Amino acid sequence: MESAELISDSFVESSLQLRHNAAMLEISDLSLSVSIQGERVDAVSAVSLRLEPGRVLGLVGESGCGKSLTAQAILRLGEHQGVEKSSGDISLDGNSLFDMSDEQLRRVRGGHIAMIFQEPMTALNPVFTIGSQITEVIRLHLDMSAQQANQRAIDLLLDVGMQDAEQILKQYPDSLSGGMRQRVLIAMAMAADPDYIIADEPTTALDVSVQKRIVALLLDLQKKRNLGLLLVTHDFGLVAEMCDDVAVMYAGEIVESGTVAEIFDHPAHPYTRALMGCRPEVSTPGEALPVIAGQVPPPGRWPAGCHFAKRCPLSEDDCSQAVAADVWVKGEHIVRCLHVGDPS
Ligand SMILES: Nc1ncnc2c1ncn2[C@@H]1O[C@H](COP(=O)(O)OP(=O)(O)O)[C@@H](O)[C@H]1O
Ligand SMILES: [Mg+2]
Repeated sequence: MESAELISDSFVESSLQLRHNAAMLEISDLSLSVSIQGERVDAVSAVSLRLEPGRVLGLVGESGCGKSLTAQAILRLGEHQGVEKSSGDISLDGNSLFDMSDEQLRRVRGGHIAMIFQEPMTALNPVFTIGSQITEVIRLHLDMSAQQANQRAIDLLLDVGMQDAEQILKQYPDSLSGGMRQRVLIAMAMAADPDYIIADEPTTALDVSVQKRIVALLLDLQKKRNLGLLLVTHDFGLVAEMCDDVAVMYAGEIVESGTVAEIFDHPAHPYTRALMGCRPEVSTPGEALPVIAGQVPPPGRWPAGCHFAKRCPLSEDDCSQAVAADVWVKGEHIVRCLHVGDPS
């Protein structure tokens, strides 16, 4: 039997009802290719991640490392932009997302897994009111009358801290501030009571003071609703604040992963250490923030061996010859580096 047949509509229906008992969202050995100057090249290479209800996983790395491609692949969103899976799988509760029909995927999107993007303005349609956009998502997933959906939209806006909810429903996106729009997007993501939220740099476009409030709101909702949250960010400080687990991504690969407590105490990969050293919290006041010298190589330009070798303070000749295997450090802590045990 094709595994597509294993997921019946009744499965999706019943698991919607049992939504807070959902199992796991698992990415295994996922490689994604993109087209660059007419050639297909890998942009994400053999990435494995596991998201569980009630836990927050941070996917962290500099810009251009493949975080958004990975996050979008979870909802199979990159496919219209020429992103293709070259190997691996993504499964929800043991069922591959790649085997699902369009209808099953539509129910999973928003119903089980919702996404919050970095730029709230592009994710909202400027010509429709906030109310019509939220109720549309509600009615797509839940069997509700217009009136019930309207009431639910009000409740959702109140949940995300928008006191004058009824008024906001009548407004258009461009009459709201960036922080308010991000709250609306969070409300929309919660509309069908999903199990998982994928948040791609959800606070990057906002002022620092607004960022803090949005982070607090997201964490509050995550705890109250026992959500599995994937937080995509370039900011290690945010990982420390929000996450239980962390996966560090460099040039398409996960180079280190484990619990936040373990990785902050014992960062093993030179890239992880370098990223942690760039946090404003650990820099000297008045001095420019440290940066990692050099640039992330784009897809198609990854060097042989370790992708980080050219920028790495510990690199030796063997780093550009051999790809390091994942090394188990302790508990769930895994690192990919040939010289992980060397004194630094
Ligand atoms: N649709 C696409 N076609 C070609 N290249 C892409 C596409 N999407 C992303 N890329 C490239 O893949 C790399 C990783 O992109 P992305 O996942 O957006 O990185 P991040 O989110 O970590 O900043 C970048 O070099 C980017 O330019
Ligand atoms: Mg990105």
